[in-house]
Amino acid sequence: MDTAVLKVDGTNLVERGNLPQVPPATPSRHAEVIRRAAGVIRAGGLVAFPTETVYGLGANALDAAAVARIFEAKGRPATNPVIVHVSDASEVGNVASNWPETASNLAGRFWPGPLTLVVPKAGAVPSIVTAGGATVAVRCPDHPVARALIREAGVPVAAPSANRSTELSPTKAEHVLKGLNGRIDLLLDGGPCSGGIESTVVDVTGGVPRVLRPGLITMPMLEEVCGRVEVGAKGEGVSRSPGQMAKHYSPRTPLVLCESPIEAIRAFERFTAGGKAAWVMTYETPEFAGWEENGDELSASPDRYAAEMYDVLHMLDGSDLDVIVVVMPPDTPEWAAVRDRLTRAAAK
Ligand code: TXA
Ligand code: MG
Repeated sequence: MDTAVLKVDGTNLVERGNLPQVPPATPSRHAEVIRRAAGVIRAGGLVAFPTETVYGLGANALDAAAVARIFEAKGRPATNPVIVHVSDASEVGNVASNWPETASNLAGRFWPGPLTLVVPKAGAVPSIVTAGGATVAVRCPDHPVARALIREAGVPVAAPSANRSTELSPTKAEHVLKGLNGRIDLLLDGGPCSGGIESTVVDVTGGVPRVLRPGLITMPMLEEVCGRVEVGAKGEGVSRSPGQMAKHYSPRTPLVLCESPIEAIRAFERFTAGGKAAWVMTYETPEFAGWEENGDELSASPDRYAAEMYDVLHMLDGSDLDVIVVVMPPDTPEWAAVRDRLTRAAAK
């Protein structure tokens, strides 16, 4: 059976799938949609919902059986822990056994927002959430639908990105349906996500904070709050991070990464001469002038590029191409998250 879809933009409520028809949207319909979605979460079901980064696939984080359904729907290996979402920083006491000062400083500055903090887990959090580990990743998303849903559910919400494991993350409801239609109970369609790539994950269990996954909260932004910040997990198994797996966030079409527009144009010509259907994905750059009909030019601003990136990749992946030639943006802190995702998307 198709997954039920409810629009939550407040103007245009549509339903399909196994839910009964409801009248057109009004502000109170919006509240009704949130109540129903919260009911699905409380009953142990799966609800995909928009956040400011990407769509999440949510379940009651305190219900091991419900979280197990997330892993099943995504085809996610049990060794990959999931992020627990709260609607307000005041709720972290339910999921964390200790809230270090660094966590409090970072949350104070960046929550609600695209920052996930790894802290010691509370006993109430089932081990499936943390993949058996002693730490839990917590995030307070900056999206009205996400926060209303979590608040109304009255429980912390475990939510990885709402895609099949290793595939492209979803930034639109249609992306979620592409991978998960029929595998989840409900999808809240809140339109496109404004951020576009997954949250920055920071481990604050040690002395110096460690960035486990780069995101829209950049190194310079973190350093402004914490002083010194390190990159990468410390030793193996200490901080397991599925986002750190080489292959992740991948389209089916092969990606070829080039460090300059000139290199990309040469690669494009080579592929085309060899009879391959090639296409360039670049940021806006003067060197690409004259070549626009051979590719998509995304924004030259890291934030806007991030917001467009997965949607463009989803679209190109459905375009019968043999290869997508990518012009890598500059190797600077502002582009770190985008470069990280492109590198993983290109990994075999
Ligand atoms: O923006 C986001 O973070 C989105 C939205 C839905 O909130 N969620 C998301 O979840 O990207 P997921 O499951 O696709 O990625 C989970 C990431 C992993 O890459 C890993 O780095 C980290 O969260 N993670 C989760 N639990 C962890 C833990 N206990 N220790 C270290 N890293 C953890
Ligand atoms: Mg993911």
